[in-house]
Amino acid sequence: MVKCIGVLTSGGDAPGMNAAIRAVTRTCLNKGIKVYGVRLGYKGLHEGDFIEFDNHSTRNIINRGGTFLKSARFPEFKEESVRQEAIEQMKKVGMEALVVVGGDGSYQGALALTKMGINCIGLPGTIDNDIPDTDFTIGFDTALNTIVDALDKLRDTSSSHQRCTILEVMGRRCGDLAVYAGLSCGAEDIITSESGFDENELIEALKQSKATGKKHALVVITEHITDVHELAKRIEAATGFETRANVLGHMQRGGSPTARDRVLATRMGIKAVELLEEGKGGLCISQQGSEIVGLPITEVLGHKRQYDKGIYEDVLKIRY
Ligand code: ADP
Ligand code: F6P
Repeated sequence: MVKCIGVLTSGGDAPGMNAAIRAVTRTCLNKGIKVYGVRLGYKGLHEGDFIEFDNHSTRNIINRGGTFLKSARFPEFKEESVRQEAIEQMKKVGMEALVVVGGDGSYQGALALTKMGINCIGLPGTIDNDIPDTDFTIGFDTALNTIVDALDKLRDTSSSHQRCTILEVMGRRCGDLAVYAGLSCGAEDIITSESGFDENELIEALKQSKATGKKHALVVITEHITDVHELAKRIEAATGFETRANVLGHMQRGGSPTARDRVLATRMGIKAVELLEEGKGGLCISQQGSEIVGLPITEVLGHKRQYDKGIYEDVLKIRY
């Protein structure tokens, strides 16, 4: 029976991480399990930067963006000797198991620690929605709503000035933020790495749209596909649409988590503690339909993420 658990947040922060920390803490305390917050991800684990949590520790954080435990990138954790030193720090306070909230890199760290005898459970904390085998990740819904808000505002000015407006959004190689936001806001075009990018096709579509009397256009594109400022110049030259490009950037990672993210983070945090209590490790938590399940990290990381083809097909059905 596990007596003491740690919780940390790692990699890029995501709204809802605080709700996950809170759920892990409360579930532990309700079960009589001691719980430590680990500051600054794996870096803090290595340095023994631990805070023992009580019933007051996670008050007033369910609604807050970011992560009050802070996050860090710590590539040194890939070295076994560094992980061994972290385990020594855990032993000093009797920490037997760990909940890691982060993306696929953080999952690798959790797996590596589990293989060294420390049961770890990963929670998908990333705005990108790029983790295989889970319908949604913690933070995706909040980031999506931030983008929707930005696109609605851009529509106002785009329409007033009869412009084409391009918005580049985050997601790394995952186009879900672009697709869901583009659909929500009636974008003329949505470009993702999954759908591929044909610049001539985009320009032809915008020309046609202009020819049918459209006076403005919104284009949403996932980061790392092309230089959007250069693209704007080429669109303007080829179509006659005055064009402006915007890169939304890190504001997508902040803000108060939506109800959907709070619920997801809370349910996943509870499940993580339950699995550790059963003596399980090397698992990550996924949402599959209405179920919250634990799946082997090795399996999940071995899968290529299956994006929701249906939603990408729907994008094409309502194009122009
Ligand atoms: P994310 O978790 O958002 O994908 P990163 O890829 O930066 O973000 O990973 C977060 C942290 O996880 C890294 O800084 C490192 O401490 C740890 N990590 C990443 N890959 C590994 C690995 N192969 N083995 C051990 N730890 C890892
Ligand atoms: O993984 C989350 C994310 O925000 C990605 O969407 C983006 O590509 C990356 O992190 C940005 O990383 P950084 O905060 O290190 O610039």
